[in-house]
This record gives sequence, structure tokens and C-alpha cells, in this order.
Amino acid sequence: MGKWFPSIYDMAMRPLEKTKFNKIRKTLVNQAIGRVLEIGSGTGMNFPHYKNATQVDAIEPNPLMDEQALKRMERSRIPIQTYLVKAEKLPFADNTFDSVVATLVFCTIPEPMKALQEIQRVSKPNAKILLFEHVRVDKALLGKTQDVLTPLWKKACDGCHLNRDTLELIKQSNLSVMEVDSYFNGIFLTIKCLNET
Ligand SMILES: C[S@@+](CC[C@H](N)C(=O)[O-])C[C@H]1O[C@@H](n2cnc3c(N)ncnc32)[C@H](O)[C@@H]1O
Repeated sequence: MGKWFPSIYDMAMRPLEKTKFNKIRKTLVNQAIGRVLEIGSGTGMNFPHYKNATQVDAIEPNPLMDEQALKRMERSRIPIQTYLVKAEKLPFADNTFDSVVATLVFCTIPEPMKALQEIQRVSKPNAKILLFEHVRVDKALLGKTQDVLTPLWKKACDGCHLNRDTLELIKQSNLSVMEVDSYFNGIFLTIKCLNET
């Protein structure tokens, strides 16, 4: 894991703060209510956008990401607690959360199906699962380009798979997909799910 990645990532994200990209992030995060679990919170880019949550438990396995997140956590209006753990093994009891948020993270999680099972386990019945992810595009040339670039991209970008089909993985899980919106030629999706089990 590159030591430089958290700083570069934060620097790359900051110019997007006033763009459509950030509006999508903000609109999605705003929909999280009650006790919220955030998966792979990174440098805390979502922390300023929690307006309707009562409490956020944010998990992030990279301690270097966490250092940057602390500053945003201190400025937040709602209580946020961070945990240095992975999504594949969550330290929470069954049926704990009203909402789960994951942005730009399922591309990087080594075992995404295990993470989805854990999210489902710790979510209350009918909890909202809100994701904003980049995915493999369903167009021959662009999709193939993502496949070819992925091995190099993974090395440069902290394990990120450019070509991960996160929507398909969710459809194979026990979560129910309620709404999907596509942005930037289908490279980015917001995916809203319910834990109906
Ligand atoms: C591209 S960053 C996104 C950060 C943040 N969610 C955002 O929207 O800016 C991906 C994050 O996923 C985290 N990550 C990697 N493996 C993970 C895992 N197994 N469980 C949870 N998070 C993980 C990385 O450490 C990194 O902070």
C-alpha cells in the first residue's frame, strides 16, 4: 500500500468539490438516516455531507487515510467514530445500522461478496444501502480498455479494479437493488438497495 496514496487521493478529490461529481456524492450521502455505517471512508470526503444521520461509524483499514479523515471528523456536526478494520469482517452486531454508505470503495475491496454479506448482516431490516461506484462499462471498446488497464491501474491506485462489475455482484447478493442511476457514460453508478431480508 503506497504511503503517498492518501495524500495524492485527497489532493485529486479536492478540485472536484464544486463539480457535478461532488453533487452526486452529496445528494447520495444526504439520504443516509439514523445510525450509519460508512465503508472505506478514506480521507473522510463524505463526512461534511451527513445532514440526516444521527451517528456515523466509519470503517477504513488504511491508517494513513484515517489521519486525514480525523480533521474532517472534528469539523463534523454529528458524532463520527472511525475503526481501522476491513469490510469483510465488521466488528458490529447483527441488525445495527439504519443506513450503509460506500463511495468509490467496492472497486478496491479484495473480497466484495464477503463485504456485501457483512453489510447485510449488520444492517437492520429495510436499511438503506447507498453506493456510488465506478464500474466496468457495458460497451465493447470501453469495457475492454478497462480490462486491459486494470492490472497496471491496480498497482498504481492502491488495488483499485477499473473493471469491477459491482452492480452484478450486488444482484448476486441478498440485497435488493431499488434504483440505479448512471453518470459519465455509464462509468459511474449510484446504486440504492434495501436490506429486505
Ligand atoms: C478510492 S478510496 C475511496 C475513499 C472514500 N470512500 C471516498 O469516497 O473518497 C477507496 C478506499 O477503500 C479502502 N479499502 C480498501 N480495502 C478495503 C476493505 N477491505 N474494506 C474497507 N475499505 C477498504 C481504501 O483504504 C480506501 O480508503
